Amino acid sequence: MSVSKIGLLLLCLLLLFIVSLIIGCGSSDSSINDTQGSTIDGKTLVEQRCIGCHSLDRVFAKKTDKAGWIVIVDDMIKNGAKLNSQERDKVLEYLASL
Ligand code: HEC
Repeated sequence: MSVSKIGLLLLCLLLLFIVSLIIGCGSSDSSINDTQGSTIDGKTLVEQRCIGCHSLDRVFAKKTDKAGWIVIVDDMIKNGAKLNSQERDKVLEYLASL
């Protein structure tokens, strides 16, 4: 009797282990999706996310270096521009290269 109880306990532990493996895989999958989700380049991101509140002329009229763009882009994110951290990096790379 006690031997089968231990067997049952081990089976439960094994199931728990498998479930946690599946959950672990699930979360690493979604982080891969995050990376794939932003294959858009910096130029396209600016053209899509930096309009609506003002025209692109307003963006391209500004001449500054990367440090200057960091201040501005972070300001725009606070204003409501939709950029995740990877997209923000790409936008900064692109704007600094103009
Ligand atoms: C949610 C609205 C909104 C979005 C989206 C937005 N902006 Fe702006 N932007 C503003 C407002 C409001 C101002 C004017 C007030 C200010 O300077 O904060 C402005 C001003 C600017 C200026 C002029 C600032 C200066 O110092 O002369 C630049 C450059 C600029 N935005 C760039 C961008 C870029 C690049 C993006 C995309 C990453 C962007 N904006 C997206 C609202 C927005």
